[in-house]
Amino acid sequence: MTVHIGAQPGDIAETILLPGDPYRAKWAADTFLSDVRLVNEVRGMLGFTGTWNGHRVTIQGSGMGMPSLSIYVNELIKDYGAKTLIRIGSCGGMQDNVAIRDVILAMTASTLSTPSSGIFRELNYAPCADWSLLRAAVQVAEAKGTTTHVGGIYSSDVFYDERPDLNEQMVRHNILGVEMEAAELYILAARHGCRALAVLTVSDHLITGDSLPSDQRETSFGDMVEIALNAAFT
Ligand code: HPA
Repeated sequence: MTVHIGAQPGDIAETILLPGDPYRAKWAADTFLSDVRLVNEVRGMLGFTGTWNGHRVTIQGSGMGMPSLSIYVNELIKDYGAKTLIRIGSCGGMQDNVAIRDVILAMTASTLSTPSSGIFRELNYAPCADWSLLRAAVQVAEAKGTTTHVGGIYSSDVFYDERPDLNEQMVRHNILGVEMEAAELYILAARHGCRALAVLTVSDHLITGDSLPSDQRETSFGDMVEIALNAAFT
């Protein structure tokens, strides 16, 4: 057990999917895994371990934002031996050619700050995805026929942004979408010799104002989980 995860040693798989929302962790585990066990419910941040095609997988909620994700990912890596960590989440589209329901594979994640900023001081570290996972995810998404974009995203510290000029700069510099967790996941994975990737579904669009109707959220979310699981074990 750790401060924030109640699982016993051995309860957590080396491969972990990380949705922000703990109820999405439950839905994904119930939908895609066999022999599912609840392994964490501390603070309601549900985590489940089961098997997918014979491989052990844990699906653990990360909460919203990088400070929350950082707590779970630090403990998963340092105390439970996680090796492959894939964020599955939603993002806001930032380019005209990116549409609601499309999947974004985040090659890099730009930020204003992360929980690791203090370590880097004046250095602008460039958080990037693990190449083997990214390559596998591209192949899986293309084989599924999912409209997929690969490129840079923006991991923001705020959902209600008082600095619209920051989003404008991100749009000008070809950033595909905005979310709030991937950059710190990439930094922690790099620091500890793990593999990480963010697979994101576009749930709303900052330019067009479109958003994914609630009745279509589950199906779109399912495509993303399938891409993540297949990429993890390619
Ligand atoms: N901003 C930040 N995070 C998000 C958004 C957004 O517009 N949409 C989904 N996650």
